[in-house]
Amino acid sequence: MSDLPQNVSPKELENAAARVRRGDLVAFPTETVYGLGADADNPVATAKIFAAKGRPADHPLIVHLANASQMTDWAKEIPAEAWKLAEAFWPGPLTLILKRSSRAHDGVTGGLPTVGLRVPSHPVAQALLKQSGCAIAAPSANRFGHVSPTKAEHVRAEFGAELPCILEGGDCQVGLESTIVDCSSEHLSILRPGGIAAAAIERVLQRQLVAPQEDSPACSGRLLSHYAPSAEVQLVASAEELAQRLSERSFTQAASPFVVLSVEKPLQLQDKNWIALPVQEEACAQQLYSALRQIDQRGASIALVFYPTSATGLGPAIADRLQKAAGPRSLSDRH
Ligand code: TXA
Ligand code: MG
Repeated sequence: MSDLPQNVSPKELENAAARVRRGDLVAFPTETVYGLGADADNPVATAKIFAAKGRPADHPLIVHLANASQMTDWAKEIPAEAWKLAEAFWPGPLTLILKRSSRAHDGVTGGLPTVGLRVPSHPVAQALLKQSGCAIAAPSANRFGHVSPTKAEHVRAEFGAELPCILEGGDCQVGLESTIVDCSSEHLSILRPGGIAAAAIERVLQRQLVAPQEDSPACSGRLLSHYAPSAEVQLVASAEELAQRLSERSFTQAASPFVVLSVEKPLQLQDKNWIALPVQEEACAQQLYSALRQIDQRGASIALVFYPTSATGLGPAIADRLQKAAGPRSLSDRH
């Protein structure tokens, strides 16, 4: 275990691995976001994930594996293109949706005929998978609909004493969830943009992906509202629109406090009303969820976000998360 980061001791790792083996929950870092893990073979253990998150039972979990060769344990009729993607991007921020084998029970798949599989690269995630000897089902370690955690302290803020075992792995490097590629039908599509750019996937496949179809599998990343702070989030499309909003007295002088998230601090805005976003998209992705959490920490009830994204690289994933954070919050969306 020499590649374990210094902040996890061999004893802590063995304790966490033992918890997984006996059917308890463990939060652990991955390169994308922190996960809330349980033994994927144990339906009693995976049910605890749904209870802790307040997640609807029909939302499937991603099964995390130590290496790509374990794909055949969990999936069947794996197309050659899925193997190609696994070879190119695993370990890493990619999830493949495949036809499930009989090992993938309904408690993991939400009753779908498919299963989501991912091999994470974070050394602590890899160590936990190897030490426990289990495949680990894990969603992001946040309450359903909330902002995903990218630091151990975010997980503590979500669950408090309810979750005694959180492995510390520092700040997640990617900061946004994995890209989900549906490989269960002939036409491969991205169900959720994420840490791997669509163009990189298309380069490996040497063909274009299609947009998700009407009958593509359900995915909570496709809900209108998700990844959302408690405050109302509004997106603005231009510096002019931002200046216009900030000139509205009804807005700046309202009793409830506001914040602006942007690359540059708007003129005359006080520091307490501003949360900086990095101009560079990789850095922005890494810090985005921390910034969304700060909105609530500052006690703001409304946030204006101005962050123009590119159409390539991590741009679509950042735009997707911002749209979801600003999405309409019907009760059925947020449970
Ligand atoms: O980066 C990530 O993917 C993180 C880390 C912890 O690995 N996990 C994560 O899990 O984001 P979660 O549960 O928050 O989001 C997983 C998404 C959900 O939108 C779920 O609907 C979708 O994956 N999903 C899982 N299995 C699926 C399946 N069989 N068919 C369609 N979507 C699936
Ligand atoms: Mg999530």
